[in-house]
Formats: sequence, C-alpha cells, structure tokens
Amino acid sequence: MALSDEFLQELKSRNDIVEVVSQYVNLQRAGRLYKGRCPFHHEKTPSFCVYPDTQSVYCFGCHVGGEVIYFIRKIENLDYIDAVKFLAKRAGMDMPEDNFQNNDNAVRQRRIYEINRETARFFHQSLTSFSGTEALAYLRGRGLSNKTIRHFGLGYAPNSFRLIDYLKSKGFKDEELLQANVAHMSKKGYLASRFFNRVMFPIMDLRGNVIAFGGRIMGDGKPKYLNTADTPVFSKSHQLFALNFAKNQSARTLILSEGYMDVIALHQAGFTNTIATLGTSLTQQQANLIHRYADEVVICYDSDNAGITATERAITILRNTGLKVRVLTIPGAKDPDEFMKSHGDKGPSLFKVILEQSVMDIDYRLEKLYDKYDTSTTQGKIDYLTQAMHIISISDNPIERNLFMAKLSEKFDMEKSSMEESIAKIRRQEKFRTLRNEKSQPLSENNTVNPEKKANHLGAVAEEYIIAYLICNPEMCQYINSKIREADFVTTFNRKVFTFISGRINEGKSVELVFLSQQFSEEEVAYITAYVSENARKSFSREELDNCINVLKKESSVKIRKNPSELVDEDLRKIYHNRRKNGV
Ligand code: UTP
Ligand code: MN
Repeated sequence: MALSDEFLQELKSRNDIVEVVSQYVNLQRAGRLYKGRCPFHHEKTPSFCVYPDTQSVYCFGCHVGGEVIYFIRKIENLDYIDAVKFLAKRAGMDMPEDNFQNNDNAVRQRRIYEINRETARFFHQSLTSFSGTEALAYLRGRGLSNKTIRHFGLGYAPNSFRLIDYLKSKGFKDEELLQANVAHMSKKGYLASRFFNRVMFPIMDLRGNVIAFGGRIMGDGKPKYLNTADTPVFSKSHQLFALNFAKNQSARTLILSEGYMDVIALHQAGFTNTIATLGTSLTQQQANLIHRYADEVVICYDSDNAGITATERAITILRNTGLKVRVLTIPGAKDPDEFMKSHGDKGPSLFKVILEQSVMDIDYRLEKLYDKYDTSTTQGKIDYLTQAMHIISISDNPIERNLFMAKLSEKFDMEKSSMEESIAKIRRQEKFRTLRNEKSQPLSENNTVNPEKKANHLGAVAEEYIIAYLICNPEMCQYINSKIREADFVTTFNRKVFTFISGRINEGKSVELVFLSQQFSEEEVAYITAYVSENARKSFSREELDNCINVLKKESSVKIRKNPSELVDEDLRKIYHNRRKNGV
C-alpha cells in the first residue's frame, strides 16, 4: 500500500493526535504529554499517554501504542486504508485516487457487504413468500407488526440451498460466500447455507450496511439463536444490535438490553433508543462505542440470575468508561419483550413508568446488598454498612459520594464522618492496588518482533534507548551517526529501524511514528512505540546516550567474535581496522 509521504504528512498534520484522541478519551495535561484512561483495557488510574512530540499514543498498562492511524484503526475497528479514509474525511481531505481501489482487503469487504445485502433481501422476500408462511406466523405471534418486520428487515432462511443458488446467480464465488459466512462447506463437499429454517435478524453497522445475521429457531431446539461468525466486516464484540437506529435520538440516553427480540419489542413500543449486545457479554469496545452516542445508559437485562450477574459486570465497564448508569428492573416478567407482550396495549405506558423509576447503579447495588443482610441486628448493620462503603467508594465524584453517605447516615442514624473516613481509606487502598497491578506489567520479553533480543539483551536495550533518543531528538542525528553505525546494531530488527529513521532525518524528513507504518507492520510499530515511550518516560540524557553507545559498541564486538559467520562487509572492515590498530 503506497500512499505518498506528502499525503501522509498532510493527513498527520491535519489530524493532531491530541485532538483526535480527545474525542474518545478524557485527557489531562501532564507536562509535555497528556494522560487519560486507556480505552483499550480496564483501568482506574490513567496510564494511557498521548505524546504531541512524536504524535503517538502509548498505554503503560496494556502496551498498546502507535501513531494516529493506528489509534483510529484500533478504536474504530477499521483496516489501514479505512482508517486513512476516516482521518482524511475528518480533516476534509480528498483521498488520492486508485490507491485504495485496488486494495485487496477493501475489495473483499465490499463483496461481503454486497453478499450480505443480497442475502438480507433474499431472506426478507422468503418471509413473505409461500415457504415463509410459518415464519411470518411465528413473528406475528410474537407480537410484531408488519411495519416492525419491514423496519428491521426481518426474514426467513428456507430449508434448502436456494440462497446459495440465488447468490451464485448474482455472480458471487464459493470462496466469497464462505468468507461472508452465509455458507459452509458440507461434509459431502458442496456449499450449504449456514442458516436454514430460521427466522432471520439482520445486524447492521452504523452506516446501515448489513454485516451479519442472527437466526432463531422457531420452536425449541439448539442453538436457539445461530449467529454469523466473525468475518472481515463483522466482530461480535465490537458491534451492537440496532445502534444504527438508536444513535439518531438526541437525548444521549441508550437502553441496553440482552436480546434481539427485546430490542425489537421496545422499538415497536416507541423506545427507539434501545440496543443489545450480540450474544456475548458487554465489552470495553462496545462501551466506548456507546459513549460516542450517549452519556447515560439504562441497563435492562433479564431478571434471572444470569441477567443479574451480567448487570453487575456491565455497571463496572460502563461506569469506568465515564458513562452514567441506571438499572431498570422488570417486574413480573423475564425480559422486556415478555413484559410488552403480557401487558398488551398498556405495555408502552407501563414501561415508561418503570423506566422513570429506574435507579442509579449505586442505589441498585445498595438495594441488592440490603437484601443480603438482616439489618435489625447490630452485626447485620455493621456488615451491611461496611460493604456499602465499598460500593459508594467506586464513585469518583465527591458530591455523589456525599449524597449516598447522607442517605445512609439518615437511614441508620449514624455520623457521616465515620463513613467519610472509611471511604477515604478504601479509596487509598484501591488506588495503591490498581497502581501496583496496572503499572507493573513488564513489556513482554518473549516478543516475536525482535526475537534476537533474548540472546542480546544488553545490546538490544542500548539500541532501543538510542533509537528512542534519536526519534525524540532528531537534531542529534549527526552526533549519533558520528559515534555509531548501522553495523554496530546487534539485532537485525533494531538495525532496520535505526537505518530507516536516520535515513529519514538525513534526507531532511520528519520522524514521527506515522511514517513507520510505511515500512513496518502494525505489530512492529506497536513494539517500537512501546520502547520509545518507555524510554521517554524516564527522560533522556546525553550521558545515558553516550553510555548506551559504548555498551552497544562493546556488545557488537563481542557478537562478532562469537558468530563470525554472521559478519557483514561493514563488520569485516571494522575487524581489520581494529586488528591493525591493535597490531594483531
Ligand atoms: P435469550 O436466551 O435471553 O433470548 O438470549 P431472548 O432474546 O429472550 O430470545 P427469545 O425471546 O427467546 O426469542 C439473549 C440473546 O443472546 C443471544 C442472542 O443475541 C439473544 O438475542 N443468544 C442466545 C445467542 O446468540 N445464542 C443462543 O443460543 C441464545
Ligand atoms: Mn425473550
């Protein structure tokens, strides 16, 4: 993939990393860099750093790192070229022609979108054809109107190979049908539809492309729902059902439910801000996605034990993402769909009432806890209040904490000051614990990017310091070049990085990490970003630079003595030179 330097340079300068990241992460300035909570892993204390100098990001907790295109790829779940397009659009730039037209990956994705669209059309038509009679009756029996069925594009997968014939008649190849996961290879070696005799729920992305399907069996049987496996256009842990419809409302509140049918029943009842995960529990990426369209989430999960456990998990993830969380408990029904069905015409207005009565996450947890203890006894009271302090301490907002303390203090006729003390202590301990857990994960030594590091540890560490120094202080390039050469580098990978970077500086080009992706893979860029960031954190000194240069020179001569067969011309010249100098 060759995008010109000029294009990348402009793309990068028009998409300042701090501005781009700020749209996803709440950043705070800390000297020359910015810090926030990592959007790629759970954490309470910020270890995600944004470096304006190198225009890069790096997380000291999970070691994700790279430049602005990499950041967009990860957070938007896009491939390289789509991330470039995303940033170009953001900056109002035109993409250079034919660079992406021929991109294999983009072509493959486009074909899958087309297959999915045709498949959705085929399923929907089947629903209203003779073969779909039973399926249509099933959906109508579940209370769905024709309008709802059309709006969600529901369908029927017939009990035959007709979908395969249909798609082939449209010119799609076997291999493409397999990639889209609408077909699988049968034992007898012919293509068969993945879905048959099921009612079908198309899953759409934010632009309205069909990206996957869920199919429900019409009676009992397993699996109850069969879903598209992950494909080049679909990742079930990154996407949300009906967000394409729900994102359009202005209230910035979303209702999060468990299933397709819950979403559809609630939309039909007028609650068009409802979404659902896709058969897995909520992930961090989904929470980030939600946060782009909402400030508040009302969790509305099943009332069974599994639903209660899932609610607990979702509260933690959503709150850590910076969302306000409420919990809705459905009285007298398993899930919102059943609730709607059992209340008929009154369903919508009754649901509105319980929605208004939904409580804040902390209230919900305190209520659940209260049910566990007998607070008429002294011990029960102590136990309840002790645990309650842990629940309140989760809040980072002192006003919020204060309000809940006040509530409990009134309820139990107890001094607020002892609660304050207890909560402060819990928060201190928690901070210490997370700091210890989050900051101490070492950068994996067992890396595949630079496998030679293991046998040449000292040299590789020195190399990494020198490269980091060079990237952050390009004006020192001449000095460094006068002290050390490519051939002195003991690991092939770092030698390649050094050559690339000093080459760019010597040509008068800038060295921000964005340019590394022209030459290095995503994994490699992440690795380089990691060591640049780790070294920059300790801050650079000329003394340490000289020290590393000396170490590296020593290591390189040791290596040459040990493995003469690996010598390159430059090494040989150096040995002869040394020998002559030492009179050998
Ligand atoms: P539920 O079992 O709660 O189903 O699964 P439901 O939404 O109430 O469905 P109905 O009312 O019986 O039709 C919730 C969600 O979990 C996923 C689906 O996304 C479903 O909507 N799921 C469930 C699967 O992916 N596979 C399964 O076998 C079951
Ligand atoms: Mn249900």
